[in-house]
Amino acid sequence: MSTPMVCFYSPTEHAHLIPYIAALHAACISQDQVIATFLPPLHHEKLLAWWKDAIAEVGAGTRLISLLLDETAPGSPPKGTELVGVVTLSMPAAETAAHRGVVEKLFVTPKYRRRGAARALMGYLEAEARTRGRVLLLMDTEAGSTAAQVCPRLGFNQSGIIPSYAISPAGGLRDGVFYYKQL
Ligand SMILES: CC(C)(COP(=O)(O)OP(=O)(O)OC[C@H]1O[C@@H](n2cnc3c(N)ncnc32)[C@H](O)[C@@H]1OP(=O)(O)O)[C@@H](O)C(=O)NCCC(=O)NCCS
Repeated sequence: MSTPMVCFYSPTEHAHLIPYIAALHAACISQDQVIATFLPPLHHEKLLAWWKDAIAEVGAGTRLISLLLDETAPGSPPKGTELVGVVTLSMPAAETAAHRGVVEKLFVTPKYRRRGAARALMGYLEAEARTRGRVLLLMDTEAGSTAAQVCPRLGFNQSGIIPSYAISPAGGLRDGVFYYKQL
């Protein structure tokens, strides 16, 4: 069995994976009920547009996207079915926030969960964040969710809870829990 490898999104190598990344995003909303920007009914075009904007930010130097791929034939272009997970780091352009980054859209495909995929994605992202001087990472999620159990395991400190912070795909308002990590 191959070992999944982490890499940064490259427009020349990974553009064909965008629909698969958008589909993973959609599945996390519709199947896991994760609060992640969009609500059902989900339209593929809308999610695709979000990822195209994110990729434009990669080009502008204000976002990193790391991918975990289980490549069965290293050296040939990765297939969409080999996508294991994704995470992004938004890097604010503000001069006063040059040391900060916001972790967004951490998604792992169900069959690879609880096997270290999120830890691998985050470790890779954090190494590059540190290189770029982004030494304070922020993250938020739904209070009481799976991700709220995972964030502290990944070294994030809880800074507080905001009641009724976001609308859940499951319906109703949910509390948001906020985290930070100093690298
Ligand atoms: C949250 C998510 C990204 C975790 O990915 P993963 O690859 O399963 O996580 P890992 O295997 O790397 O585990 C990282 C740590 O979290 C713990 N963990 C993972 N899933 C867990 C769960 N369901 N309950 C409790 N702890 C969990 C692991 O035990 C590990 O800690 P340890 O190394 O100290 O034992 C994945 O479940 C997912 O994609 N969920 C749907 C989308 C989502 O919720 N994204 C987060 C939005 S902010």
